[in-house]
Amino acid sequence: MAKRLLSLRVNGREREDAVADSTLLLDYLRETANLTGTKQGCDGGECGACTVLVDGAPRLSCLTLAASCAGRSIETIEGLAGADGRMSALQQAFHERLGTQCGFCTPGMVMSAEALLRVEPAPSEARIREALAGNLCRCTGYVKIVEAVRCACAGRLAG
Ligand code: FES
Ligand code: FES
Repeated sequence: MAKRLLSLRVNGREREDAVADSTLLLDYLRETANLTGTKQGCDGGECGACTVLVDGAPRLSCLTLAASCAGRSIETIEGLAGADGRMSALQQAFHERLGTQCGFCTPGMVMSAEALLRVEPAPSEARIREALAGNLCRCTGYVKIVEAVRCACAGRLAG
């Protein structure tokens, strides 16, 4: 299959890779960029496990062509950690508040929450639930996840 050179930024680093026009952003991230934190769930836009940020906005990478991201900035769960590898406050809150059980939904959940907190640092519970509505979790019942996001808000506001 013919490939073209794709230039984009992934977690702050410029990349250039040969990519087929039909390659999904999810597959590009996992197989070419070796960023397997982004999860492949339903593969059909239903579960949110594959959520990443494209120019700061949450996007389902299983429904996005990699080629459509030329020149854009992509952020994955791996990009939230500090340069020293320490988890971000939001990731830490998920860990401490038990917002993670099997963990499969967690990267997508965290990326959706991250997008919300960047534009709305003190969202109501209703807004948090609305922002996470496209991210399905079969383990936690969502209470701990919402708590984790609220806890991260409080930490950000205090900092
Ligand atoms: S894998 Fe993308 S929405 Fe489920
Ligand atoms: S923690 Fe298992 S699916 Fe959410």
